[in-house]
Amino acid sequence: MKAITVEPRKPGTARYGDFPEPEVHEGSVLVEAVAVGVCGTDVEIVEGKYGWAPPGKTRLVLGHESLGRVVDPGPSGGLKKGDLVVGIVRRPDPVPCPNCAVGEWDMCRNGQYTERGIKEIHGFMSERWRIEPEYAIKVDASLGILGVLLEPTTVVAKAWEQVAAVGQRAFWEPRTVLVTGAGPIGLLAALLGRQRGLEVHVLDRVESGPKPDLVRALGATYHAGTVAGVGFEPDVVVECTGVGQVIADSIRAIGAGGVVCLTGVGSGGTTTGLTTADVAAEMVLRNNVVVGSVNANKRHWYKAGENLARADRKWLSSLITRREKPENFKQALERKPDDIKVVIQFSEI
Ligand code: BGC
Repeated sequence: MKAITVEPRKPGTARYGDFPEPEVHEGSVLVEAVAVGVCGTDVEIVEGKYGWAPPGKTRLVLGHESLGRVVDPGPSGGLKKGDLVVGIVRRPDPVPCPNCAVGEWDMCRNGQYTERGIKEIHGFMSERWRIEPEYAIKVDASLGILGVLLEPTTVVAKAWEQVAAVGQRAFWEPRTVLVTGAGPIGLLAALLGRQRGLEVHVLDRVESGPKPDLVRALGATYHAGTVAGVGFEPDVVVECTGVGQVIADSIRAIGAGGVVCLTGVGSGGTTTGLTTADVAAEMVLRNNVVVGSVNANKRHWYKAGENLARADRKWLSSLITRREKPENFKQALERKPDDIKVVIQFSEI
């Protein structure tokens, strides 16, 4: 079969080419790939900045935002041929740490978790893949290609759960949320904010293209510019850019008792003029919490499925701005100005 693979930590090694069929130990369910979403993590892996091949191997099959069709459900009773499924990304560490032991692998304590297409286990950008039945999430057939949005939705479902959990430390009635960044994660975070009945504001750099209209279509307010320029103190910030300046500005802007949830992974940048002690003083005097959030466990996969089911299909469809063939994966990894979610389509749906 053919697969998109990369030698992690070696830029320029990504290729689409022949690759052995998935091995039976990877799972009893055999799946034909339909589509795989591309995200910033994939770009980082291809640029040689992140990622790990399976132990003893040099290449990693890329891709963690899956959608596939069951070819052979194996002995599992829960799936049948033709079902649409999405694969959970993370597997618990083998020790296991206390969190992995209770199924909260997203909160793994020792870092020995593995992730499909990212860390030590093959991803989903191959014509066929295998999965353990307990990690295959069946999606409603009526969602069609939109099932590929499930994985990024799980990431924001977890982030919102974190925000709510932190908020519960005191009496808390959040009203306003600022989402920084109108990429797929930001827009899905805004969708979930609206579903929670909040007044949602989304900030991004661009003034044109599809993002402002997508935000307005949610009944949310779009801002182009800086966090300071939004003109209010949000109860919640969901930070989806990973940009130092935006993070520092968010910590300054958050209202008293507010929660800043960081979901973006960035690095470098210039210093922002805010020292660690400055940040601490702002947070102490206003009871603020900055919480990092990564990955998702089964509970979030379940909730994300509900979030997608409640969302307007037309709005969700407009998040998928480009579909590329696997042989054109390099174009899929390039960020074009009007791109939101780009997917690599392996077979028709
Ligand atoms: C994925 C997560 C993963 C994280 C860190 C993200 O792109 O969506 O599932 O945990 O990268 O590897």
